Amino acid sequence: MNEHNWIELDATALGLLIAQHNDAYWNRLEPTISDVEYDKMVERLKAIEPNHPILESLGASAPEPGREVVHQQAMLSLDKAYDEASMLHWAGKFTGPIVMSPKVDGVACSIRYVNGQLTVAATRGSGQVGEDITLNVQCIRNVPLTIGKGPKNFEVRGEVYLPLSQFEKFESEFANPRNAAAGALKQKATDGVKRLGLLFFAYDLLKVPLASEMEKIACLRNMGFEVVQSKLLERNQIESGYQGYVLERANLDFEIDGVVFKANDVGEQDRLGFTAHHPRYAIAYKLQGDSGRTLLKEIEWSVSRTGVLTPVGIVEPVVLSGATVTRISLHHWGMVQSKALSLGAEVLAMRRGGVIPHLEHVTRQGHQPVVPPNLCPSCGEAVRIDGDLIHCDNRSRCPAQATGRLSHFAKVLGIEGFGEVWLDTLVEAGVLLQPSDFYRLSVRDLLGFERMGVTLAQKLVDEVARKSVVPLHIFISSLGIRDVGPSVAETISKHFLTVELALGADKERLTALPGIGDIVAENYLRGIHALRSEIEALLSVLTIESVNLVSESDETTQPFGGQSFLFTGTLASMKRSDAQLRVKNLGGSVASGVSKNLSFLVVGDEGRAGSKLTKAQALGITILSESDFLERLNALEID
Ligand code: IVH
Repeated sequence: MNEHNWIELDATALGLLIAQHNDAYWNRLEPTISDVEYDKMVERLKAIEPNHPILESLGASAPEPGREVVHQQAMLSLDKAYDEASMLHWAGKFTGPIVMSPKVDGVACSIRYVNGQLTVAATRGSGQVGEDITLNVQCIRNVPLTIGKGPKNFEVRGEVYLPLSQFEKFESEFANPRNAAAGALKQKATDGVKRLGLLFFAYDLLKVPLASEMEKIACLRNMGFEVVQSKLLERNQIESGYQGYVLERANLDFEIDGVVFKANDVGEQDRLGFTAHHPRYAIAYKLQGDSGRTLLKEIEWSVSRTGVLTPVGIVEPVVLSGATVTRISLHHWGMVQSKALSLGAEVLAMRRGGVIPHLEHVTRQGHQPVVPPNLCPSCGEAVRIDGDLIHCDNRSRCPAQATGRLSHFAKVLGIEGFGEVWLDTLVEAGVLLQPSDFYRLSVRDLLGFERMGVTLAQKLVDEVARKSVVPLHIFISSLGIRDVGPSVAETISKHFLTVELALGADKERLTALPGIGDIVAENYLRGIHALRSEIEALLSVLTIESVNLVSESDETTQPFGGQSFLFTGTLASMKRSDAQLRVKNLGGSVASGVSKNLSFLVVGDEGRAGSKLTKAQALGITILSESDFLERLNALEID
């Protein structure tokens, strides 16, 4: 429709027409008129009906986590093959080279760019309709927010994944890297994505007319995407290419569950077409050997250090990746329920990337439904079911929780010699209950247990004593607070620098830090509060080293570089030594008296009428109140 056709329309009809073009442009990426024509229509509507509601809602729909996003092109799954014969049968249906890439085991994601801007990102969902995950995808470090060169309106598809080197840090929290990534992407808050360090591999480019898969990969790379490794092959190289990944798998920093093969030539792809579920031009050659069927005999409930009862499946022995497995992780009570798991069920157990084997799915139901326990298997107290999780709230007297806390503490501090068996024994005997008890252990306390002689007892006591000076980040992480693992602890310690300040943190300061959102901040504050008496006990036996950043960085590039500070009077919000340390950490120096070289005199409460103040005023030195000083610190440290 050109200007001659729409200029006569009334406001209602013109509004409708604009709404259609807006959708075609922003949401379908298929504009049917020129930008100039579109702008003229909008101008005309503004002139004839300035309050028309469509004028309020032009542009792309605002990101809204969880909202439905209709895929313009369905996100299909891949057909699977398990042997070379099936692969050759598949490859015999077309001509020309084949592209091979690893099948990354993450979360499929589609991202639309309009005018070079990341506009909508969605999960695969049903394949037709996915979920809006735009805000989270915008926080993935290797996904470009704007495109500088190449096409500007397109859709990129790929896999969001959690690198294995990152997963190692969070292993206790998730069943596998894919679950971790999927969970974080679906959260409304973006701190999960930032905290985990999710990444994206691009493997497909839509709405850009290119003749081959390799051209699409080159174009994506040129636009700034990290692309899946892609290699051109002849048919007789399929098996050796696949075997290459079987060997290479252990060295990759991401999980793969197969190798994807595609016809390179887009003309051939079009000729082959699709079934209802998958394209005929692509196939996944699945990796095997790490999953097997077995029978679920019973369920054991193990109690974690935070009091969560975790179901462990006891199964008929099954060999997975060369090791015999008899126990598999069932993750949590919610998973047992969602799979309607029953004893005697035939299940597919899987081990991925060296992680604890877990239940992948139920292949045949058993005979006896699983009932959740009423009592904690460790302390016998009544338990509480809360959504997916079952809790034992008997924090202070539950032996399993005590062992879990002690074991976590010893691991984080590197205290050696206290294996789970010793810890169980010492907890049961009442010798150890909480981490600070390690430091009260004497040789006498330890003697009398089977296999414990004076030499071993002395060795253990010495080992504990050697670990009594602890860097701040290790101390924070040793507390075992939910969500506060090594990376969050490191962030908190680098910002607050001293244990007093880290323990006095408030939500606002915490959430201003990279990778810390509302949930992590709340868990940290709640944890600190719940543990206050244990923290006090630990502080009386440990020396916590404050963070000293100065030695690590160049003083001249520091925000307080070249500036000197002198403190007088009592500061209300921190100890003077802490204030001095923070100045030093920002590159400043601490002066011992007032001179004309002093940059700032910071005046605390009792310093108002002091001689330093009078002298500094006489020399024209800048005087800062405590709140002026804090403001400067906050502004610098938050950046
Ligand atoms: S090509 C029709 N290449 O595997 C889809 N997919 O079952 C064509 N996947 O969820 C996709 N790595 O997200 C392709 N190198 C790769 C892949 C890959 C992982 C995922 C994809 C989809 C699933 C298909």
